[in-house]
Amino acid sequence: MFAFDPLSPDFARDPYPAYAQLRAQPGPYYYPGFDVWLLSRFADVSAVALDRRLTRSLDEAPAQAEARRRAANWQDMPHHSRFVQFSLLDSDGAVHDRLRRLVMREFSPAAVARLKAATADHVAHLLYAALDKGEIDFVEDFAAHVPGHIIGRMLGVPDEDCPRLRTWSENIVQYFDIDRSDARKALAENTTTEFYLYLKELAALRRRAPQDDIISRLAAAEDAGALSHDEFISTCMLILMAGHGSTIDTMASGLHALLRAPDQMKRLRAEPSLMPLAVQEMFRFESPLPFFHRYASEDLEIAGRRFARGEKLGLLYGAANRDPAHFLEPDRFDVGRTPNRHLGFGNGAHFCLGNHVSRMDMEIVFAALLARSRDIALLEPPAWRPGLAARGPLGLKIRLLPA
Ligand code: HEM
Repeated sequence: MFAFDPLSPDFARDPYPAYAQLRAQPGPYYYPGFDVWLLSRFADVSAVALDRRLTRSLDEAPAQAEARRRAANWQDMPHHSRFVQFSLLDSDGAVHDRLRRLVMREFSPAAVARLKAATADHVAHLLYAALDKGEIDFVEDFAAHVPGHIIGRMLGVPDEDCPRLRTWSENIVQYFDIDRSDARKALAENTTTEFYLYLKELAALRRRAPQDDIISRLAAAEDAGALSHDEFISTCMLILMAGHGSTIDTMASGLHALLRAPDQMKRLRAEPSLMPLAVQEMFRFESPLPFFHRYASEDLEIAGRRFARGEKLGLLYGAANRDPAHFLEPDRFDVGRTPNRHLGFGNGAHFCLGNHVSRMDMEIVFAALLARSRDIALLEPPAWRPGLAARGPLGLKIRLLPA
């Protein structure tokens, strides 16, 4: 009998055999560790993400909500419950639409295009130092310094504070995974408090002297009554958390995929115009955020099973993106794959707001990396992040030969 164990070292090393076994199950698979029914086939996952009857949160009585929080060890976290447990991502319907509309413009292709020159400049500096060193840990010495800098700029965080964003984001994001120990809980709550106090102070500065950034515009929107103080803070926190670790992880797993498929590396070096497709393939091949949940907001039937209102479903975007019923040879990394309608950024109402930002970061990083290096060698197989909620190498030791 198949038993899904996303906490095992085998799963961290290579989750794809387990995902294949999940897709082969006759229907949704119950995973007691998260009290969740997992969906893993592309068609099911995509349909549920598009279905408005499946929601991120449940409208329920306070006692029920408290019981649910206790079951997840999410209770007694005053700042976490105000700014992390509630967010644009975790709201539905009219509240979600209002909050999403308030920030949508910040993530448009035109807004992202304005960040290109600063991103290229930042990446060029990092790469210069990396090439000088020769042997680097691509995660620690390079990738970890990219997304925080760009998201920080968008938010309005001064450059010198951007390195702190990484620690804040990691300490909060770790508590979304399956391990909900009290030590991890304390880390999440304390970090949320620290980040809150920082944002509050920065917002006060921006109110006195507004600038061209998200914090200035959201502070003005709060003053105009378009969103509450808690909604303002939680939106800033979400923007940081949603796109920070995930972009670092895809940079590292994308480079790893290229290094494991030298024919694809050679092809991309010879045809740099394939870069946008290659980057999309990186998001499909090793989806960095492979798991999100939904609740049944009413009794309904999904993938052949009846769900009662309140039951929780797990959308395994990472498993759906390797489904042979949707992708030709899904386990092959193909820098020219087209079409490539993957679910790495989700689908439907919660489709990733930051997808243009992370694709821009990735395209600039890989274009620079390939243009400035003659050869890149993997020095040792990486260890991978354990758990179900995030996927990426914990480090990536490489040797870079300058062009
Ligand atoms: C590697 C890069 C990224 C990946 C793989 C990714 C993936 C995702 C996915 C799968 C969702 C949908 C969640 C669901 O279905 O419940 C999502 C939502 C979201 N993402 Fe991203 N994301 C990335 C980068 C970013 C960046 C850079 C930002 C912002 C700077 C961002 C902001 C958001 C926000 C705000 C939402 C919530 C949207 C909503 O609920 O309406 N993401 N992301």
